[in-house]
Amino acid sequence: MSKLFEALTLRGLTIPNRVWMAPMCQYSADSAGPDTGAPQDWHFQHLASRAVGGAGLILVEATAVSPEGRISALDLGLWNDRQQQTFRRITAFLESVGTVPGIQLAHAGRKASTNSPWTDGGSAVPQERGGWQTLAPSAVPFAGNPIPAELTTDQIATVVQQFADAARRALSAGFKVVEVHGAHGYLIHEFLSPQSNTRTDAYGGSLENRMRFALEVVDAIRSVWPDDLPVFFRTSATDWLAGDTADERVGWTGEDTVRLAKELQAHGVDLLDVSSGGNIPDAAIPVAPGYQVPFATAVRDQTGLPVGAVGLITEPHQADEILAAGQADAVLLGRQLLRDPYWPRHAATALDVEWARTKQYARA
Ligand SMILES: Cc1cc2nc3c(=O)[nH]c(=O)nc-3n(C[C@H](O)[C@H](O)[C@H](O)COP(=O)(O)O)c2cc1C
Repeated sequence: MSKLFEALTLRGLTIPNRVWMAPMCQYSADSAGPDTGAPQDWHFQHLASRAVGGAGLILVEATAVSPEGRISALDLGLWNDRQQQTFRRITAFLESVGTVPGIQLAHAGRKASTNSPWTDGGSAVPQERGGWQTLAPSAVPFAGNPIPAELTTDQIATVVQQFADAARRALSAGFKVVEVHGAHGYLIHEFLSPQSNTRTDAYGGSLENRMRFALEVVDAIRSVWPDDLPVFFRTSATDWLAGDTADERVGWTGEDTVRLAKELQAHGVDLLDVSSGGNIPDAAIPVAPGYQVPFATAVRDQTGLPVGAVGLITEPHQADEILAAGQADAVLLGRQLLRDPYWPRHAATALDVEWARTKQYARA
């Protein structure tokens, strides 16, 4: 039996296989009016087709916990009733074909207020052209983006509460997994990395202080999320600076990630989804097949926390071997599932696994 098609149980939730869809922004929500931030037909077909294709779990794209937490005005959001209600059709459909519906909750921090990638290369949108003031741990801009406003401690508490409110809405909308977006240079990662966090209060300086915001978000979500359902956390395991490469700037490192993983585990996180990068525009990243897997394996080996591996996992045998070798507990696929929504089904054939889902297509 292939490991890829073995179920995985986390708390009271059984996920039918270990090939999962990574969260991927579609920049296709309404940007004005009552439907702002609510999923559209595009999102329905995008997610439904990967569910029919056989993904065991689908993580809906980075979904903002507040309007100013959106990367772009076209992002999904989960701060009002309309958005909550519109997600229900998606979660119900995913469940009906045996896929677990999950959602990534996010705040874009200093990387908010941009265009979609296909408009002016995803450049920052200034306030006078419909953008908004971005928020961050410190007034340190990302690349050439506008300078963000440093969050006050009261504002930090507000954002923590927004994550909890969005998690409560996610539950009401039918999601079974909530993933905290702590990666890719967005707000939580900005607090973790000394490159973007220069605070001198309880949220900056030592590793313990830089982890404080992430752990407060997790605690707030755990306080509203049921005990029998899992919480995931996506991390950028490294900034790809000193410690992990020859770059002498000090950033977030793989060792820091192991420390964070231990804390997250103690605070009720059930799986670490291990990505990397996104906070340092000019970091040299050695991109290659499976290049982020060793960071996931280090967390799994040193903490026992279940991990998801992501990044250039594209071949059925590659994916299965990552799991069989004990390097990760699940694999998440991004672009390969955009190319081929039926990848899990095709992988089952390649791995000689009988496919019993999708009765409507059984004759094919
Ligand atoms: C179109 C697109 C949108 C993405 N949006 C998100 C996102 O919303 N949240 C996130 O954590 N990662 C996002 N990512 C990163 C993916 O989840 C994934 O980690 C990355 O693409 C590497 O995996 P892959 O090689 O299988 O594509 C996005 C990637 C793509 C290609």
